[in-house]
Amino acid sequence: MSKVTVVGAGNVGATCANVLAFNEIASEVVMLDVKEGVSEGKAMDMMQTAQLLGFDTTLVGCTNDYAQTANSDVVVITSGIPRKPGMTREELIDVNAGIVKSVAQNILKHSPNAIIVVVSNPMDTMTYLAYKALGLPKNRIIGMGGALDSSRFKYFLSQALKCNANEVEGFVIGGHGDTTMIPLARLATYKGMPVAKLLSAEKLEEVVASTMVGGATLTKLLGTSAWYAPGAAAAHVVESIIRNQNKMVPCSVYLEGEYGQNDICIGVPVILGKNGIESIVDIELTDEEKDLFAKSAEAVRNTNYALTEVGAL
Ligand code: 2OP
Repeated sequence: MSKVTVVGAGNVGATCANVLAFNEIASEVVMLDVKEGVSEGKAMDMMQTAQLLGFDTTLVGCTNDYAQTANSDVVVITSGIPRKPGMTREELIDVNAGIVKSVAQNILKHSPNAIIVVVSNPMDTMTYLAYKALGLPKNRIIGMGGALDSSRFKYFLSQALKCNANEVEGFVIGGHGDTTMIPLARLATYKGMPVAKLLSAEKLEEVVASTMVGGATLTKLLGTSAWYAPGAAAAHVVESIIRNQNKMVPCSVYLEGEYGQNDICIGVPVILGKNGIESIVDIELTDEEKDLFAKSAEAVRNTNYALTEVGAL
């Protein structure tokens, strides 16, 4: 028996709930939204696919009724506004900080032992806010950005290599921002072969650049931010926790000296299991990568300062 709550039944939250149910990652999935009827309707719609798709997960929708989320094992926070074309994730901070803080506090009242997965943007700053506002141990607050960015990286690599994306390995560290994320091309492989040997330096640079603006490209095409990959990436993080898979996934986590950083949540590879973050994986970076990571941290930290300005911390 496992229970997962998804707060925010918009595109990303609903997709996450759908993936969780379809793959029977949890036995119960609760969706909560502030908009009257929306999560009830989406839950009912999804439940009507159970017989077609053959899953046994129960989906429940509710309007702002936190009692229904009680005793969740994992809670995914997707609440807040998404970006519009031309906006950066950082521009959402004024509106989303207040929402994420109050959602996180309400969740904790009803699920004191839950592991919290933060999706709302700007994701690293919202993860930091949840960590600071809730005072939970750091293993229980996880930002999902790196999971999404890494899956985009593997997609663009597979397009360039003209190969199956499932046979590509690669991951992205740093902030979940158009200029702050760091796709680690040096460590990316296709069937164990370094991609740097299979693609020209120019092509690899193109892949890295496309990955970094992956979210912005979709926002431009869709008129709002993406949801299939973000929802699936959040579900991937939840799955490794609920099923105690101990997968290595880059996530935004609170650092205390790791990667030379303190008092910040930013993307690094972690092992995800039943306790949330089981450990932070220390990967040896080159001097150039270290430099990029330090710059990324500086940018994330600058966004974090805005939390004080908007009165969230
Ligand atoms: C994205 O990159 C929504 O931040 C999310 O698509």
